[in-house]
Amino acid sequence: MVTVLFVCLGNICRSPMAEAIFRHKVERAGLSKQFHIDSAGTGDWHIGNPPHEGTRNILDEKGIVYDGIKARQIEIKDLKQFNYIVAMDDKNIKDIQTLEHPNSAQVLKMLSFMEKSPQNDVPDPYFTGNFQEVYDLLSHSCEGLLHFIREKENL
Ligand code: 4NP
Repeated sequence: MVTVLFVCLGNICRSPMAEAIFRHKVERAGLSKQFHIDSAGTGDWHIGNPPHEGTRNILDEKGIVYDGIKARQIEIKDLKQFNYIVAMDDKNIKDIQTLEHPNSAQVLKMLSFMEKSPQNDVPDPYFTGNFQEVYDLLSHSCEGLLHFIREKENL
């Protein structure tokens, strides 16, 4: 089983969108049984809440399901249990590393999986309001991430 955890700040906008998009791509590739996919936030403000309306709207528009996704906060045990931890921005990585010794958690950056990415961080639509931009970035980078994992895991 390959385990993938997407991480952002609030776990209501970016990381649940990445979780739903990545699960959709994994399903389309016929690999659902080989993956466990989840998301979490570094903050605790929205624990138990469904994705933000902007994330729900764009996923509905694209026909991507997000049933059952509820915000939770990242825990130290996640760092041991997940093979791939994928953060949306540099601040997320710093926050994850304050949970444990900086070198013990290997955290990947979402946009490193997007060829010719126009930026380094996935901008936070909670503040920008631009959920379409985030969807486009996440859709491309999820494609790259799946390719990367399939090569690594021989899938
Ligand atoms: P996210 O966006 O990290 O993409 O889920 C945010 C959601 C909520 C807050 C900040 C960012 N907040 O401050 O409540």
